Amino acid sequence: MATVLITGGAGFIGSHTCLVLLQAGHRLVILDDFSNSSPRAVERLAELAGLIPTGPGSWGDALRLVQGDIRHDHSLDLAFAAAQSSGPAGLDAPVEAVIHFAGLKAVGESVAEPLRYWDVNLHGSRTLLEAMERHSCRCLVFSSSATLYGYPETVPIPETAPVQPINPYGHTKAAVEMLLADVAGCGAGATAEMESPNGWRIARLRYFNPVGAHPSGQIGEDPDGIPNNLFPFVSQVAVGRRPSLRVFGSDWPTPDGTGVRDYIHVMDLAEGHRMALEALLAEEPQLLTLNLGSGRGISVLEVARAFEAASGRPIPVELVARRPGDAAVTVADPALAARRLGWRTQLGLDAICRDGWAWQSANPHGYAA
Ligand code: NAD
Ligand code: UD1
Repeated sequence: MATVLITGGAGFIGSHTCLVLLQAGHRLVILDDFSNSSPRAVERLAELAGLIPTGPGSWGDALRLVQGDIRHDHSLDLAFAAAQSSGPAGLDAPVEAVIHFAGLKAVGESVAEPLRYWDVNLHGSRTLLEAMERHSCRCLVFSSSATLYGYPETVPIPETAPVQPINPYGHTKAAVEMLLADVAGCGAGATAEMESPNGWRIARLRYFNPVGAHPSGQIGEDPDGIPNNLFPFVSQVAVGRRPSLRVFGSDWPTPDGTGVRDYIHVMDLAEGHRMALEALLAEEPQLLTLNLGSGRGISVLEVARAFEAASGRPIPVELVARRPGDAAVTVADPALAARRLGWRTQLGLDAICRDGWAWQSANPHGYAA
């Protein structure tokens, strides 16, 4: 059992990971500024974990919630203190590890506002690393992304594929990966498995396409405005918020002509974080870089059909031009995560659609309703 600081723990992937970690007996402090999430997500995940509130932002000796910005030393120090303090304010145990989800993630927005993306994603990560040094904590799981691979040259994509992002969001993720390699003492040319001469335990987890929701339908993805990503859009068509799905390109070199991706159930992804965290804490200091994906490609039309079946609602589709910046196929080679962590995805497209629909149908307007 460890005490873990979760930045961005109220967000989509963070909330599901917090639930899995609490159920495994870990103690958590969540630091989030709610710029893209709601405190309701934390209340609900705490309830799902069977925790009883004991005060504002406080659930016994299991969970604390601190509202604050990762770019501010003061917020970070408050979060570390919320772990270490004894009495009702704290968990009475210093932070042993950090899982760092907080950041901005919309590709189009990153093109329009590159400075904000570099500030939150890179400056925020550096400020966090400095706080970790101040508080003698050298264990970090970082949310990286398959967006690093840009237009991949080989599919399935191994961790050794070139890092060649094609947008500002991807550039910030690549920069943080390099920063982490330097902090670990491994240099920029780090390979996927390296010892850390500086005594750091770091995992850089490159997620493919996280989708779905907790099977209870109580927590899930709650995008602001019109969703850019396929699954939130399809769910909103099914629930009647949007009239039809525009399929971006039907002339890709794929079996049905539509784009192929490696969709991963967010509960599988959450398990991957738990296993990476526990491996880092148990093993010698190292820098580990892992793809988290299923290794299986699914097309846009397959998603639309599976979501229709799960929801019992029609998903009208309209074939339109390709979206600039898209690749035809991105699929993970997940062999290294299987070998290093014993982790493999357990949940397929049917479970993804079933659980995504449970969330969307029970919360048609997300946490706002
Ligand atoms: P999300 O937006 O739902 O969660 C991010 C959380 O961080 C939110 O709760 C937000 O309020 C918080 N946050 C943002 N800026 C902050 C700041 N300055 N200080 C404190 N909190 C802040 O996103 P998500 O989908 O859960 O993604 C989590 C991480 O995983 C991100 O770093 C993202 O880049 C990465 N990632 C996501 C995907 C994806 O498709 N969802 C894919 C690959 C990688
Ligand atoms: C997007 C991001 C990528 C990020 C990933 C995380 C872009 C260009 N890329 O990638 O950086 O790492 O999300 O999950 O935004 N599609 C439609 N209609 C829609 C929406 C999507 O046909 O309304 C298609 C896309 O063309 C693609 C597939 O669905 O073929 C998946 O799209 P999306 O969910 O946006 O994910 P990615 O393209 O993989």
